[in-house]
Amino acid sequence: MPPRTVFSCSACGHESPKWHGRCPGCGDWNTLVEEKPQKRSASSRTARRGAPVRLADVQAPAIARFSTGIGELDRVLGGGVVPGSVVLIGGSPGIGKSTLTASALGNLAAERKVLYITGEESPAQVKLRAERLGPAALEVPIVAETDLDSVVATIEAEQPDVCVIDSVQTLYAPDLTGAPGSVGQVREVAARLMRVAKERGVATVLVGHVTKEGALAGPRVLEHLVDCVLQFEGERERTYRTLRALKNRFGSTNEVGVFEMRNDGLAEVADASARFVAEATRAPGSVVLAAMEGTRPLLVEVQALVAPTELVPPRRVANGVDRNRLALILAVLSRHGGLALGASDVFVSLAGGVRVDEPGADLAIALALASAAKGMPLGAERPLAAFGEIGLTGELRAVAHHERRVTEAEKFGLAPVLAPGDAGTLRQALARALSPSAQMAA
Ligand code: TYD
Ligand code: MG
Repeated sequence: MPPRTVFSCSACGHESPKWHGRCPGCGDWNTLVEEKPQKRSASSRTARRGAPVRLADVQAPAIARFSTGIGELDRVLGGGVVPGSVVLIGGSPGIGKSTLTASALGNLAAERKVLYITGEESPAQVKLRAERLGPAALEVPIVAETDLDSVVATIEAEQPDVCVIDSVQTLYAPDLTGAPGSVGQVREVAARLMRVAKERGVATVLVGHVTKEGALAGPRVLEHLVDCVLQFEGERERTYRTLRALKNRFGSTNEVGVFEMRNDGLAEVADASARFVAEATRAPGSVVLAAMEGTRPLLVEVQALVAPTELVPPRRVANGVDRNRLALILAVLSRHGGLALGASDVFVSLAGGVRVDEPGADLAIALALASAAKGMPLGAERPLAAFGEIGLTGELRAVAHHERRVTEAEKFGLAPVLAPGDAGTLRQALARALSPSAQMAA
């Protein structure tokens, strides 16, 4: 039978024998592209290779890890790079993926064999970047190549301990028809590199670009394949960047690393709370959120602006917090907090370009909105710190790590902290925060 053509969706990877204007899998328009079907092995019946083994008898040596010399990166990876593992680092262009991987390889080069494969930039461009990162980064051997066969041959010949592919979207397998970066190509590239990684024990870091919508072919369809998916986030114009694990076969997915883009590369921000609190003010619309980023408490300023509008519907702009969460908080404020903002534009933003995705942020956002709407500063002398989840009926709900959040806020002189327990409902919390005595007290 001649090989049939398949059409696969560049957004979700759905495969269909026919072209559709709209993907039957995810409903996106114009995302189906033609691919040559995956090759199947000639004989589908293979002799059995091994008998089942009782799990207790499976040999599982303790995982040794290579430290990248970047504490925040090691922590997000679960303690360093695992030999033979495949890590995907996704992020929008310009966020600092090449910078991060280049400095990590530079540090690793002192003790390990490393290799940097660039398909995106010329060796001269990579060198220019490395010069900014310092002498260690200049020790990294580099190969500029986009042909997958040649890349695989290079890796097999060099046998590095750690190899970075920058980026997975620029490599192409010559025996497939799709353009580099198409779903079929990206899948094939990742699968082949994965095989080499596992067979030769080469820890492989795949760099992948993702657009704001996560739409670009690639990283999304690779998530199930690789061992670890790291997401590099932040706004290009801002200095702070966060690195979080979306998937990690060798560690927790709660860890978040905070970095700052400087002139000489990415610097780790170990004392993120101190930075963000120092920048917080007592202006109306400002509240410090005592958040948890993985196992680490993080204080970050929430800012809100509420302004009358003629627009229908009014503007709802959320930076660093989920839009739907903001909509929910606005609805609860109006229904259960006596604060209707239907005729106002609302802007909410987390300072420093940080992103917080946890329900514990609700109360701080609600208080910042109320403070902005009423033009009243919160907290006495120092900014008010708060955390807690808001339920649909206007109740405040406890969130994890209550003690650690309070302790972190106290460490930076932000006491008392408004949290679930101090108030049972959003209405009570608003009354407490906005009452003149609360602002005088403490
Ligand atoms: P880059 O690592 O090339 O991003 P990506 O690989 O994710 O596309 O770097 C992104 C930006 O960071 C670039 O605009 C230049 C800037 N930058 C610095 O500010 N300082 C530095 O030391 C370096 C190397 C880059
Ligand atoms: Mg790059």
